[in-house]
Order: sequence, then structure tokens, then C-alpha cells
Amino acid sequence: MKVLILGAGGLTGRYLVCESKRREMEVVSYTKQELDISKADIAQDTLANEKPELVINSASVTSLELCEENPVLSRKVNCEAPEAWAKECGRAGVRFVHLGTDYIFDGKKTSAYLPQDLPTPLSRYGKDKAEGEKRVLRANPHALIVRLAWVFGHGGKTFMSKLPGILAEKRVVELAGGRTGSCTYAGEASRIILDLAEKRVEGIFHGVQAGETTWKRFAEKAIELMKKEGRSVVCEEVRELSQDKIPGLQVPRPAFSTLDILETERVLGRKIPKWEKGLAEYLKEIGW
Ligand SMILES: NC(=O)c1ccc[n+]([C@@H]2O[C@H](COP(=O)([O-])OP(=O)(O)OC[C@H]3O[C@@H](n4cnc5c(N)ncnc54)[C@H](OP(=O)(O)O)[C@@H]3O)[C@@H](O)[C@H]2O)c1
Repeated sequence: MKVLILGAGGLTGRYLVCESKRREMEVVSYTKQELDISKADIAQDTLANEKPELVINSASVTSLELCEENPVLSRKVNCEAPEAWAKECGRAGVRFVHLGTDYIFDGKKTSAYLPQDLPTPLSRYGKDKAEGEKRVLRANPHALIVRLAWVFGHGGKTFMSKLPGILAEKRVVELAGGRTGSCTYAGEASRIILDLAEKRVEGIFHGVQAGETTWKRFAEKAIELMKKEGRSVVCEEVRELSQDKIPGLQVPRPAFSTLDILETERVLGRKIPKWEKGLAEYLKEIGW
């Protein structure tokens, strides 16, 4: 099967490329520098040239702060471009997979969010991602949307990705407290996304690892695993601060955004491993 991966220079995109190759798919991938998904007519032209059977859109403006600063860009990349790609894929008979986020929810629910729960976004990013999902499915009812949350992996810009390096260097690590959610090792995320695509399912699915965590619990587990492997851990204390005290986290994020994965597990016919397993896999990958 020939797969076209958009946003291939990003965290999830890079793992999607590796996992697709591991599955012996024919892979064509484009980074932002190679292909801007929001350019006029780009979807139509690329589909005509590449003739893929499957398109996975991993491109997105993921910085919440940048989305607030540049709402026009956020709207274009997180909402309008996915709609255009969904529509063109539908026209060309190509399957389309789009990635979503837990940040479309406000965190007021007290049990895990279901795929069919109504979005209640708190930020520009959340609003545009929620509207993007809606428009993708309206433009192409056969599209598949896989929502991720707190993704971590090699070379990632996310806090969880950088955490092992921080724990190895800093005695006191201060991180955002008061938030509970799902998380996913990008390697597992790419397996879930491709498994769902191969099952040819449509609509919205949650693609996170089992269990829920906080950044503090995640850090403490990382320390435990790193010490068990005999790695050097300088960190002696993990301190939670309120989010507004952490530089770069000024835009509101949901206090609770655990995603329910029962339907994904049912469709896949397998249990998705717990996040602790994903963390162990990540630490092994980066040699910690
Ligand atoms: N990372 C997470 O924790 C997380 C959580 C929930 C959901 N998600 C979703 O997962 C998907 C993948 O995100 P990620 O984790 O891989 O984040 P990422 O590392 O920020 O990757 C996104 C990629 O898209 C690229 N991009 C931005 N604008 C583009 C454009 N106009 N055309 C083509 N590419 C463009 C970015 O390039 P630049 O970096 O150069 O701008 C980046 O390489 C997104 O849909 C995101 O909403 C991610």
C-alpha cells in the first residue's frame, strides 16, 4: 500500500514514517519545508502526482501560544487545510486519516472523554482543531480521525519528550501541576494510527495509551525506570507549580483530559499497553 504522510518532520510524523516502512508500505513523506499543506490546490496536485492509497495528515501548528498569536495561521493549518485534504481525498477515492487532540475539551468532565463527547475548547488551538475535525468529517464522511494526547518521543519538542534529559541534569525539576490526562509514546501512537487505518474504520477514535497520569507522576516513573537501568539521575525533587507560573504555558489547558480507549481496543481486538510501558520503550529507545 502506498501511504503519503504530511507533516513528516514532526514528532508523530517521523514515527509514522518509520512504522509504515517497518510494515513494508510504500512511503512518500513531506516535511513542512517540502510541502505546506495549506497552499492552494496542493492537495489536488499532490494526489494527482503521487497517487497514494492512504494519506495521513500529521501536520499541525501545535504550539498553543503560537495559535493565540497567529489565529489566521492556526485556522489555516489546523482547520481549513485538513478540510481541503479530506475533500480532495474523498474525490480521488483515497483514504484520509487526520490527527486530533484532547485539547478540544475543557476538562470539566469527571470520567474519561468518549469519542462522541462534544468539544468544549479553551484555546484557539483547541477551537481550530475541533472545527477541523468537524469539517474533515463533513467534507469526507469516510475519513478517520485519531485523537492523541501528551505525545512523547525522540526529538520531540514536548515537555514529556525532553524530561529524561532534564531529570539527568537538574536537582529540582519544576513542572505544571493540577492536570491529569492520557499520554502516548509516539511509537505506540503510530502503531495505533496505522492499525486503525488498516482496519478501514471511519469516524473518531482515541489513540492514547491506557491509564492516566500527571506530569509529576510521569516524571517520578521516569526517575524510577532510569535508576533501575543504572542511569544517572541528578533530580532529587519534582515540584508541581500552577500552570501560570511555568514559562511558555500561559494559554489555558484542560485540567482533566483523559481519553477513553475502549472503542479503539474493541476495533483493534487488542489491549493498548499502559503509558508506563510506552515510557519504558521510549527510555530504551534513547538509551536511558
Ligand atoms: N504533540 C502532542 O503532544 C500532541 C497531543 C495531542 C494531539 N497531537 C496532534 O498530533 C498531530 C501531530 O503532532 P506532533 O505531535 O507530531 O507535533 P509536531 O512535532 O509539532 O509536528 C507537527 C508538524 O507539522 C508541521 N507543520 C506545521 N504547519 C505546517 C504546514 N502548513 N504544512 C505542513 N506541515 C506543517 C510542523 O512543522 P514546524 O514544527 O516546522 O512548524 C511539525 O513538523 C497534530 O495533529 C497534533 O494536533 C499532538
